[in-house]
Amino acid sequence: MDITELILDDHHEQRRLFAILEQIDPAETDVLSAIWHRLASFLELHAQAEEEIFYPALLKAGIAARRAGGVENETLDAIHDHNEIRDAIAEVARHQVGADAWYAAVAAANAANSDHMAEEEREGLTDFRRLTGLARRHQLAVAFAAYEARNFAGVQPVDKDPVGYVHAAEKKARPAGSGSLNVGTLKRN
Ligand SMILES: [Fe+2]
Ligand SMILES: [Fe+2]
Repeated sequence: MDITELILDDHHEQRRLFAILEQIDPAETDVLSAIWHRLASFLELHAQAEEEIFYPALLKAGIAARRAGGVENETLDAIHDHNEIRDAIAEVARHQVGADAWYAAVAAANAANSDHMAEEEREGLTDFRRLTGLARRHQLAVAFAAYEARNFAGVQPVDKDPVGYVHAAEKKARPAGSGSLNVGTLKRN
């Protein structure tokens, strides 16, 4: 297995569920609601699994390869995007299922998620394949699959401060006394 493949598989599943939603009769509000709830909780779980397993590993690999600046910026962007996706999901819940405003909120969540997945696939996943070997990617795939299986019923969506997140992950990744953190110089975009 390879964690970058598991993440891609999840992205395909997210695209598939958005496409299913678009093909349901707006009058079938029970069906719309059921599919949306499945998709929303999957989006939240996927983002959290990446925050627990993938991004700390990307930061660690980048630091080891003396490419900390690049992976820090990718991680800051990703956490910022995950917050936007969580917020877009929360916005959907404020509207009546099947109403025009509900469809608009679902479309906004789709746009936020699509933009994020494209960037993540182009940057974070690509860099991680360049920085790590297959054995490490397999080990992380097992952890990622286990995290999603253990939390299949859903996670509590919590927005995170991107700089604080990177700072905490780097603190864990660097051995004590191995130098200062880079993140102090980073600005949130
Ligand atoms: Fe992500
Ligand atoms: Fe993702």
